[in-house]
Amino acid sequence: MIKEQIRLFCPATIANISCGFDVLGLALDSIGDEMVLRKVSSPGIKITGITGQDLPLETDKNVAGVAGMAMIKALEYKEGFEIEIHKKIKPGSGIGSSAASAAGVVWGMNQLMGSPCSDHQLVQFAMEGEKLASGSAHADNVAPAIYGGITLVRSSSPLDIIRINSPELLYASVIHPHIEIKTSDSRKILKTSISLADGIKQWGNLGALIAGLFKEDYALISRSLEDHIIEPVRSILIPGFDDIKKAALAAGALGCGISGSGPSIFALSKGGDKATEVAKAMSLELSKIKLNHDTYVSVINTKGIYILP
Ligand code: HSE
Repeated sequence: MIKEQIRLFCPATIANISCGFDVLGLALDSIGDEMVLRKVSSPGIKITGITGQDLPLETDKNVAGVAGMAMIKALEYKEGFEIEIHKKIKPGSGIGSSAASAAGVVWGMNQLMGSPCSDHQLVQFAMEGEKLASGSAHADNVAPAIYGGITLVRSSSPLDIIRINSPELLYASVIHPHIEIKTSDSRKILKTSISLADGIKQWGNLGALIAGLFKEDYALISRSLEDHIIEPVRSILIPGFDDIKKAALAAGALGCGISGSGPSIFALSKGGDKATEVAKAMSLELSKIKLNHDTYVSVINTKGIYILP
């Protein structure tokens, strides 16, 4: 018997933000999945429908199912939920498709249960879905989806998440070239050790980026959006990456890099008009090499997941 139902917006997210591999992420507002959750008396999670993508309906093979079951088990909850997932974020796009599903389901269940769990606990359940999707339980996409805004995962075991200030005029431009890169594959190509010199550059930038975000110092944010470790390795998987980055910076972006594990590329700008200009410049580069793509411009979504009317 159906007891209650909610419809959610589950945002796309940009993980890493150049210098914060596996620790930094931000939530977007202009692209996200929709999800409908119903509280039912039969136990467990039943995925009743998925539109937009061909993804498994079996609870134990679906990231939303796995995250939801982790929450049900932890709370020893005796009833259950039916879920409909309307995918707008393409899997393998680098803007947190699996995270939107995993985070959305646990956030929605928490609402329907009367909010027994903290955001911190919800991230832990959602990470189980991420583990199924990519083989690694990283929280840098699910944390901003649940907390909203920009988040730093200081540690994933024990989990320690810090919400970072999002300057009001900070906008993201994202282009998604229509090629698929699996997170699991793009993690396999990474080196497992780095030089001390690269480490120094990276943590200098990460610390400065956090300071820049709190001080709302756009010049400092711009100087800090550098990645000396991951981008040089992963960018070879993305056709035209160097030209797209050059075009974004020439158009006045504060910085530009790979969104999550790619192939999406993001740029950050001061103001919505500038972000639109930057998105056009990036898109033009992909058109030159005849690569179909989607383009998004978004303010930072400080709410994260929210209930739709
Ligand atoms: N931090 C993860 C990675 C994010 O870059 O592999 C994946 O979306």
